[in-house]
Amino acid sequence: VTKISFAQDPRPIGVFDSGVGGLTVLKALIKQLPGQSFIYLGDTARVPYGTKSADTVKTYSLSLARLLLAHDVKMIVIACNTASAHAAEAVAAMALVPVISMVPPAVDAALDATKNNSILLMATQSTVQAKSYENALKAKKPNVRLLSVPAQVLVSLAEEGWHEGDVTEAALDRYIRPAFTGAGVKPDTIILGCTHFPLLKDSIARVAGPDVTLIDTGEAAARHILKTYGPFIGDYSGETRFFVTDSVERFEPLARKFLGYADAPMDVSQIDLTDFSAPQPQGKKACSI
Ligand code: DGL
Repeated sequence: VTKISFAQDPRPIGVFDSGVGGLTVLKALIKQLPGQSFIYLGDTARVPYGTKSADTVKTYSLSLARLLLAHDVKMIVIACNTASAHAAEAVAAMALVPVISMVPPAVDAALDATKNNSILLMATQSTVQAKSYENALKAKKPNVRLLSVPAQVLVSLAEEGWHEGDVTEAALDRYIRPAFTGAGVKPDTIILGCTHFPLLKDSIARVAGPDVTLIDTGEAAARHILKTYGPFIGDYSGETRFFVTDSVERFEPLARKFLGYADAPMDVSQIDLTDFSAPQPQGKKACSI
């Protein structure tokens, strides 16, 4: 019996996100893992996750993971940082395939990059509250200083396409400028701990200055997969299918912008997660999805 490698296994890699933001992660995966097929699942009906509680994010994430598993994926990539922060263990516990969270690869990349052990995390409110980045960083390097900035407004600015300009600069001034102008040790590394923030990279770099390294979680995760499961040099051609929980019409134009697809065909379907939702805990009223 010849054992096929992970890269040769023709089953798709499943990627899930709260909505469109995870497309920045998908883009990094497509670039770094040539020939692979992907299923992208965006929970556009229930986005944002970044303002929701740990329990809700976990329940939603499990329902997305179940749908991907029903499509026979060979790996689950949790593109959404908020879902990674709250649900990585729960998803890994129910899946028999490898589960990739954004947190560990980004933490490793940040620790590789920092010289002064001072790191800034920009993320959603819910990700910051989860403390997953903080715990993972401190477990590997106890003397690291982490400044966590919840920056929810930047999610909307990125979706609006305001990657640069007055409003985005004003928001960044308020969120992160104090970290670079105060008296203390200035961070030399920023973890872009949210799917949307790579789109604001240039604006963030302008505020942080040229000596600060920006960690893109999707790129870090793609490099981690390449290192662990590669090489990806198969000659089979990959394809990508998209599933969303809100309408296709609302997703596609934004998805094209995020992916930089001008008019390439996209295979997008709307799906109903009800059949795949996580079992509700006993004694609690089931919430409708
Ligand atoms: N995908 C989310 C994240 O990376 C951002 C959007 C949301 O709040 O759902 O944290």
